[in-house]
Amino acid sequence: MVAHEVICWDCGSKIEDPFVNTCPRCGGLLTVKMDLEKVKEMRPEDLRKAPLGVWRYAPFMPVDPANKVSIQEGGTPLYPVKALGKEIGVENSFVKFEGLNPTGSFKDRGMTMGVSHAKELGAKVVGCASTGNTSASLAAYAAKAGMKCAVFLPSGKVAMGKLAQALFFGAKVLSVDGNFDDALALARKMADERKLYLLNSINPYRPEGQKSVLFEIMDQLEYDVPDRIILPVGNAANIWAVYKAVTELKEVGWIDKVPMLTGIQAEGSAPVARAFASKTKDFIPEEHPETVATAIRIGNPVSGRKALHAMYSTGGFCTTVTDEEIIKAQQLLGRREGVCVEPASAASVAGLKKLRETGVVDRDERVVCICTGNGLKDPDTIINNCAPPIKCGNSVADVERILSQ
Ligand code: F0G
Repeated sequence: MVAHEVICWDCGSKIEDPFVNTCPRCGGLLTVKMDLEKVKEMRPEDLRKAPLGVWRYAPFMPVDPANKVSIQEGGTPLYPVKALGKEIGVENSFVKFEGLNPTGSFKDRGMTMGVSHAKELGAKVVGCASTGNTSASLAAYAAKAGMKCAVFLPSGKVAMGKLAQALFFGAKVLSVDGNFDDALALARKMADERKLYLLNSINPYRPEGQKSVLFEIMDQLEYDVPDRIILPVGNAANIWAVYKAVTELKEVGWIDKVPMLTGIQAEGSAPVARAFASKTKDFIPEEHPETVATAIRIGNPVSGRKALHAMYSTGGFCTTVTDEEIIKAQQLLGRREGVCVEPASAASVAGLKKLRETGVVDRDERVVCICTGNGLKDPDTIINNCAPPIKCGNSVADVERILSQ
């Protein structure tokens, strides 16, 4: 295990109690400070004996690999997307397809770290609030670890595939009257009363695993740093995790340039994008977030301030896209590249398109869009936005007639 300490991101206090989720002194957000002195003597090649995936980067992680609870997460493809890039006007574009993780989203990267740490602490019951993917992932890793699991979901707004996964893996699935923010408030209360170990991304060990997406992108691009990385922002931890990974690679001297980190929110659920537009360090929560991209339907993002810091300090950007732009981008990715992502993930591609059109992104930039989840998570949205199956008689002539139309 690499030496590390948990500290308050706001006041810098060292946190001794492993079961708190905010700073007991100032109420601030927590983060892990890694001691990377030993890594400074290493080179990226030294890690390449291990397969591409989260645990290849163990020297950057705060959990002992001997305790790992793993379902072989990470190691997802980085597709060059020439046809899509041509259509959007940024030919040198890539898609990092996180939908090919074990439970179909990037959450598995954070969950392998979070649940492994829970095991180190001897936790018996784990829990989280979720718009769907976090709960699917936690349910799977809790099953693998033999822990009891409770997930708190906003009633009625969770995509079918995600709900099916949480039920399937044997979690206690609790449907909370309210939205994600209400569900998280309840899960946090349970954690504060020590009834469960909380594995939302407010737990600083979660982003530590999520850093691996950036490490993989750098490995896959042979450490030739892209100009920009674009990702959807919901509860806002993933963009923070990517930022943390960038700063750590810089600290050990493996990169000397920083990609412009660019966050995309849905127009109906955009507290971070609105704060960015008014150049503030903090955001104003939204009461009634709404979007077809239910994964990022969040009005009070826990890591919103960290996300803003990540974007400001890398010269990045933040903007919104409409539900219509999200669905169009989702379909474009499918029809041009054969990649099926869920609506929240398509927000990154919709954002790239918008930022090219508005001139924020240059034609010759090298851009990576992180597509966070698999399209099969939310088949209803796909079916609602595709033409229905075509009725066909039992004859070759009938089929020929249809194909010629
Ligand atoms: N994309 C997908 C597919 C997600 O599920 C989420 C978050 C995000 C993007 C945003 O990431 O929150 O780190 O900014 N889903 C959480 C969940 C909230 O409960 O599954 P973020």
